[in-house]
Amino acid sequence: MNLSIVGTKGAGKGTQVGRLANDFNLVGFSTGDAFRHGMKLRSPMGLVADKYVQRGELVPDDIVNGLVEEWIWTTTPSKGIVFDGFPRTTFQAAFLEETFREMGRKLDAVIYLDVSDEVVVERLSGRRICNLCREEFHVVYAPFKNCPKQKCDGQWLRRLDEDQPSVISTLVKVFQRGIEPLLQHFEQTGRLITVNGDKSIEEVYAGIVSAVTPYR
Ligand code: AP5
Ligand code: MG
Repeated sequence: MNLSIVGTKGAGKGTQVGRLANDFNLVGFSTGDAFRHGMKLRSPMGLVADKYVQRGELVPDDIVNGLVEEWIWTTTPSKGIVFDGFPRTTFQAAFLEETFREMGRKLDAVIYLDVSDEVVVERLSGRRICNLCREEFHVVYAPFKNCPKQKCDGQWLRRLDEDQPSVISTLVKVFQRGIEPLLQHFEQTGRLITVNGDKSIEEVYAGIVSAVTPYR
C-alpha cells in the first residue's frame, strides 16, 4: 500500500503519518522534515530550501522532486510508502505517478486532512519539536512526558521559527491557492479520501484507518 497525506500546515500530517507507518509497516517520508534536516546541516539543498520555508512559501517543484527521487530509489520494493506533505502540486503529482510507474508501484490513495484556519493556529502555536531527535509534541494535545527514544528529559524542546503567526498565515494562503487542482486530480482518478482534520488525534486516525484498510 502506498499513500500520501496532504493538508495545510498544522493539519496533523506528521502526527498521523507516524502512526500509520508504525501500524501498517510503511516507510514514511516527509519533504518538510527533509528540508528542515538539510537546513540544519546547511547542505546545498537545505540552503536553497531555507528561504522558501522561512517565508512560508512552497519550495520549487524541481527541488522537491529531486529530493524525492534521491530518496525513493533507496526504498525496499516490498515495503509500502506513506508521504507526508508530498505531492503538493499537480506537477509533483505527475512526477510521483511517473516514478511509481517506473518502480512498479502505484499510489493507492491520497488522504486530505481538511482543517479550519483557527484550529491550525491553535495547534502550531503549541507545537514543540525536539532539537535532538526531531520528535514532535504539543503543550496541550501531546505534552512531553518522557522521551520516546530515551535520549533526553525534554530540555531540547523548542518552537520552530516557521510556527510564528505571520509565517503561518502566509502558508495557509499559499496552501489554499495551490491545493484545489491537486485535490481535483485525485478526485477524478478516484483516489481522494477527505478526512475532517479538526477532530482529535484519535478520531482523525480512526477515520484514516477505516478509509485505507481496503488497500492493505
Ligand atoms: P511541512 O513539514 O510539510 O510542514 P507543513 O505543511 O508546514 O506542516 P507541519 O509539519 O507544520 O504540520 P503537520 O501537518 O505535519 O502537523 P503536525 O502533525 O506537526 O513543510 C515545511 C515547509 O517545507 C513548507 O512550508 C514548504 O516551504 C516546504 N515543503 C515541504 N513539502 C513541500 C512540497 N511538497 N512542495 C513544496 N514545498 C514543500 O501537527 C501540528 C501540531 O498539532 C502538533 O503539535 C501536533 O501534536 C498537534 N496535532 C496534530 N493533530 C492534532 C489533532 N487532531 N488534534 C490536536 N492536536 C493535533
Ligand atoms: Mg509535519
